[in-house]
Amino acid sequence: MSEKLLEVKNLHVSYGAIKAIKGIDLYVNKGEVVTILGANGAGKTTTLRTISGLLKSSEGSITFDGKEITQVPAHDIVSLGMSHSPEGRRVFGTLSVEENLLMGAYTLKKHDKETLNWIYKILPRLQERKMQLAGTLSGGEQQMLAIGRAIMSKPKLLILDEPSLGLAPVLVKVIFKAIRDISESGVTVLLVEQNAKAALKLANRGYVLELGKITHEGSSEELLNSETIQEAYLGKKK
Ligand SMILES: Nc1ncnc2c1ncn2[C@@H]1O[C@H](COP(=O)(O)OP(=O)(O)O)[C@@H](O)[C@H]1O
Ligand SMILES: [Mg+2]
Repeated sequence: MSEKLLEVKNLHVSYGAIKAIKGIDLYVNKGEVVTILGANGAGKTTTLRTISGLLKSSEGSITFDGKEITQVPAHDIVSLGMSHSPEGRRVFGTLSVEENLLMGAYTLKKHDKETLNWIYKILPRLQERKMQLAGTLSGGEQQMLAIGRAIMSKPKLLILDEPSLGLAPVLVKVIFKAIRDISESGVTVLLVEQNAKAALKLANRGYVLELGKITHEGSSEELLNSETIQEAYLGKKK
């Protein structure tokens, strides 16, 4: 049987009186790529931020690598091996590309040259620009940097929130290829994407979130072949 790395049960999250997440269950097995699809405002970012400890749930439980982490602060969750690349590529604009990457390794005792070189190998554009200030990178390059920084801590689980948002198609390809390389290196990935087709092609399984509830789940193949999903998320007409 496959081993669960992450398990979320009956999760509820509110912003004051607004109930954003209304009792969701999901899991990610070790080695999988799992995607969460859903329209704007469905609650995808809220779910990811709650898993990584940046928001607290009002009900439910989150278990990561065999540990209950529901009440664990975000910085301790990072040390347990979970890394979150947030929506909107927050890089440190006044630091160089390489300094940004090294910041990602702050939970490790020593800098890991091997990981840095591996990131430069899968995202060569970062190596070409390693001395450049991150604030002067293009949007796509900043997104590459945000992903690179998130894997510098050698996480067991990499959480990505809309990594391809607003990028030109050629850069979307580069980003998805990098996520595939990261996954093939053994890192488990939880991916939120607007680009449902590309996400399902990469993922093993997927969940569809609508207004804070999971309405569909299944293997990527099942979701790609579902008429409901095709109409709502893959832009196909009946
Ligand atoms: N900081 C916040 N304060 C109040 N409501 C919020 C906040 N962030 C998100 N929401 C609301 O929670 C719901 C889910 O938002 P979000 O998780 O960002 O969705 P998604 O990432 O799927 O677009 C939306 O209705 C949104 O307006
Ligand atoms: Mg979002």
